[in-house]
Amino acid sequence: MARGYPEIDLPVGHEPTDNIWEAMFTQRAIRYWQDKPVPRELLEKVVAAGSKAPSGSNTQPWVFVVVDEPDTRAELGAALRGIFEAAEPLQQLISAGEQSEDKTERLMLKGARAFFSHLEKAPAMIIPCLYGLSSPTQDASSLLAGSSIYLAVQNVLLAARALGLGTVMTTVHGMLDADLRRILSLPEEATPCGAASHWLPRRELRAHLPQGLGRYPALERLVDGDLVRISAPRGPVFGLARR
Ligand SMILES: Cc1cc2nc3c(=O)[nH]c(=O)nc-3n(C[C@H](O)[C@H](O)[C@H](O)COP(=O)(O)O)c2cc1C
Repeated sequence: MARGYPEIDLPVGHEPTDNIWEAMFTQRAIRYWQDKPVPRELLEKVVAAGSKAPSGSNTQPWVFVVVDEPDTRAELGAALRGIFEAAEPLQQLISAGEQSEDKTERLMLKGARAFFSHLEKAPAMIIPCLYGLSSPTQDASSLLAGSSIYLAVQNVLLAARALGLGTVMTTVHGMLDADLRRILSLPEEATPCGAASHWLPRRELRAHLPQGLGRYPALERLVDGDLVRISAPRGPVFGLARR
């Protein structure tokens, strides 16, 4: 029984693994969170894995904004809750699914309610943004643009799974665009492309970080102290939202 979600019989979290097959075959959408911070080194590690993904002309047109501070999470959670509470059709869909005969569907929809109404419980969120997009298109709204970032997002999900962290990919950033930009002080040229929220498995996390994590060059300020860009061997990879 996970803390905060007493009515739901949740599966037990997976152990960390270095086996790529196991990671790929067991990576699932996780919508319940433990009340424990995710160590920054792990967040850095999963974002670094994202930065190893292919991109058009190797332009790496992304910034990953990592949010793990309670106040910022609370603001994002409140913004999503407000949208959810005003969206009657979505609520009806979820209520109907929660009564489904099918256990998988029931769990998914109960999870969706937890997700929409308590996002702030996610100890960390990663918001991948297109940034400096030039290949294969300059149009961030084009389907082609996604090809230069979603492989990186998949790397993030798999790396998190390998480290024993649960994630759920979401496109609710589409409903939250104005709030995200305001709360995270995103620069105009950054285009949010999704979000993944992190969860620690219920078993003890046995992190197995490879050596060399501390090798990142110094932080580089991107915007007004709110967003910090970190340079890595393959170029700028992510920002930490700071308040
Ligand atoms: C583009 C995309 C958008 C998604 N959006 C949401 C979302 O808004 N909320 C959510 O709870 N799950 C979301 N998911 C997760 C899917 O519901 C999930 O991957 C799918 O149900 C399969 O479940 P599994 O990953 O556990 O196998 C999204 C996944 C993708 C790829």
